[in-house]
Amino acid sequence: MSVMPAMEPSKVRTALRRHFLMCRPEHFAVTYAINPWMDPALGADADRAVAQWEALRSAYAALGHEVSLIEPVEGLPDMVFAANGALVVGGRVYGARFAHPERHAEAPAYAAWLKDNGFPDVLEPRYTNEGEGDFLTLDEVILAGTGFRTEIAAHQEAQEFLGRPVVTLRLVDPRFYHLDTALFPLGGDNVAYYPGAFSPGSRAVLERLFPDAVIASERDAAVLGLNAVCDGRNVVVNAEAAELIGTLRDRGFDPVPVNLSELRKAGGGPKCCTLELRA
Ligand code: ARG
Repeated sequence: MSVMPAMEPSKVRTALRRHFLMCRPEHFAVTYAINPWMDPALGADADRAVAQWEALRSAYAALGHEVSLIEPVEGLPDMVFAANGALVVGGRVYGARFAHPERHAEAPAYAAWLKDNGFPDVLEPRYTNEGEGDFLTLDEVILAGTGFRTEIAAHQEAQEFLGRPVVTLRLVDPRFYHLDTALFPLGGDNVAYYPGAFSPGSRAVLERLFPDAVIASERDAAVLGLNAVCDGRNVVVNAEAAELIGTLRDRGFDPVPVNLSELRKAGGGPKCCTLELRA
């Protein structure tokens, strides 16, 4: 009898080098509440947030990813959440248009940085959308959230501009107000998600598209464990998401736990702090 290899060939994971844009949380604060995680009475500690964010940035560098930085703007405490600044696919930039006035000024700041740094093809959107917070790009499709922030018309606008099929998913739990708080891509053809964040129809769509998905528990979702970044092999994920980290390991991924507890007070995790620049 032949000896089985420790891991099936299909489970040998390959990391692809990524290019990320991040924004140091120098002006981070919780001064308004636009999602259920935020409590201005409790506030948040910017110094602590910067230290945790630096650890995230170092984790990406240690994995071999390139990190670019955008200058933080005073008076925009949520600008650290770079994922919301745009959607960049195939070198084209679908700009953001924020739902809440507190964040409106972030969209032109991100668009200007991208224009000046090698991404001149920027579409200023007609419809409300919060960039990669609600658009997650896989090899064949882009998954797009709606229900709290991004309008369905923006899904159509992005599809037309980027020439990629966009699949609408409806979010129903206000704790998971962006798609990237409830689901993350595992490489280009699979995902991990928390089913309770989605409408019944959208859950059925996810089951059909991703029969082999990693299903996360409410406990993992409630520490923003789904707000993770996978490069095909490594998964940068909130350390508190213990069950999810175990499942990822069983599936042949290499979890890289990080602690972003201070940023979670604004409703964000590793993915929120990370905008992927796809050339
Ligand atoms: N306080 C921010 C907001 O509510 C958090 C954004 C988190 N970003 C994300 N990609 N989920 O808009």
